[in-house]
Amino acid sequence: MSMIQQLVYIAASLLLIIGLKRLSSPATARQGNFLSAFGMLIALVVTLFDQSILSYQGILLGLGIGTVIGVFAARLVAMTAMPEMVALLNGFGGASSLFVGWAVVATAPISSMITSITVLISVVIGGLTFSGSMIAWGKLSEKIGSKPLLFWGQKYLNLFILLIIVINGVLWAQSMDIQLFYLIISAALLLGVLAVVSIGGGDMPVVISLLNSYSGIAACAAGFVIENMLLIVAGALVGASGLILTNIMCKSMNRSLRNVLFSGFGSETSSGGSSEQEGEVNPISSSDAYLILEAAQSVMIVPGYGMAVAQAQHAIKELSELMENNGKDVKFAIHPVAGRMPGHMNVLLAEADVPYDQLYEMDDVNPIMESVDVCLVIGANDVVNPDALQSPESPIYGMPIIEVSRAKTVFVLKRSMNVGFAGIQNPLFFKPNTRMLFGDAKESLNNVVVEFKE
Ligand code: TAP
Repeated sequence: MSMIQQLVYIAASLLLIIGLKRLSSPATARQGNFLSAFGMLIALVVTLFDQSILSYQGILLGLGIGTVIGVFAARLVAMTAMPEMVALLNGFGGASSLFVGWAVVATAPISSMITSITVLISVVIGGLTFSGSMIAWGKLSEKIGSKPLLFWGQKYLNLFILLIIVINGVLWAQSMDIQLFYLIISAALLLGVLAVVSIGGGDMPVVISLLNSYSGIAACAAGFVIENMLLIVAGALVGASGLILTNIMCKSMNRSLRNVLFSGFGSETSSGGSSEQEGEVNPISSSDAYLILEAAQSVMIVPGYGMAVAQAQHAIKELSELMENNGKDVKFAIHPVAGRMPGHMNVLLAEADVPYDQLYEMDDVNPIMESVDVCLVIGANDVVNPDALQSPESPIYGMPIIEVSRAKTVFVLKRSMNVGFAGIQNPLFFKPNTRMLFGDAKESLNNVVVEFKE
């Protein structure tokens, strides 16, 4: 490896680390994304140059094709379809590690035991990451059923396949028999499929985050195989950050990773908690909602998945500005698992230019909830469900929530009495201080905006 390549690799590693650090705040996230992408770009270009893998023209052509695909994908993929896109990207990352390991086996004799082990790790984890991610993509995009596919003896079958991989891995490392190697690849691909089909579509964001971490581990192993320092660093960063994110998501849902992976959550519509709630809901019209908002001093906005579906972020930004100009204190309260992917609400609100200092975390708003005049719940359901605090039999019991029911008045903007992701009814809708503003969130907000302007 030349001196220049080594220096560029060190610079690229630093860019990846600084980029990752900057991704942790909405204010610096764009810059972090750019720095990491730039780091990866210079690393790729210098690798291709240094080892004379491609000519100038070839590199430029590759950059051109990649840029066009990237720009189209970023522009065409809807925000709500982002988890699917991440699933595909993860899958490709896993497949790359699989191919790196395979290429090493196919092109040169493997002399050391350490190389055999790292090849096996990159091929097995890369393979199951690829097939698992494809199933996750299929479930999220509804190309295949999103319900968990459960059958008798499933866990034992998975364990048996794992055993086949381990035994054949040991045999292959001793004999270098290529048939055994292909058997290991096939078993890894099958294991990825079987492990993910048993998980419900709603849990796919957690699975994707876990697979993301696997793809990092596979890349790290591939880095050891081809003795590439940057691949080892980048793989380790992806592996560690994926695990941290998985942990954050599980904690925010008050579920263990074991529960997410093995419980088959979503296989049947749950009726735990207060789903059999009896009582009347109180609908409200946009003009009445305006009158109450007009008189309020403090307003808290709690967005959820429905805001993403309705693409109501610009409408809520406009309304929040009008209310602020009207002298009201306006805050946005963000639940860590609102929506369907980490940071979902932050990304949407940033797109609508909602200032970062107006966004508050759940733990900061819950203590001041009693002093809030109106809480505007926009397409959120599970993340404001009081059953999570009160009903031990509820599937979401123990999940921390934004406790909007303690505000003086709550407006819930949704289209019907339909349940949210967890499949359970929400007693918040039946509380005396709750008013239901039925309809598409964007339309309802636009109607209130018109009232304010008039
Ligand atoms: P949900 O509980 O899924 O509720 C969304 C609500 O939005 C629905 O009740 C729906 O009611 C309403 N809605 C849909 N389209 C709408 C539209 N066009 N206009 C107005 N309302 C609309 O959402 P949440 O409160 O954000 O909770 C997120 C859930 O996802 C949690 O259970 C969480 O555990 C889970 N989850 C999240 C993540 C991450 S990382 N965010 C990962 C895995 C799972 P209508 O159909 O009646 O309109």
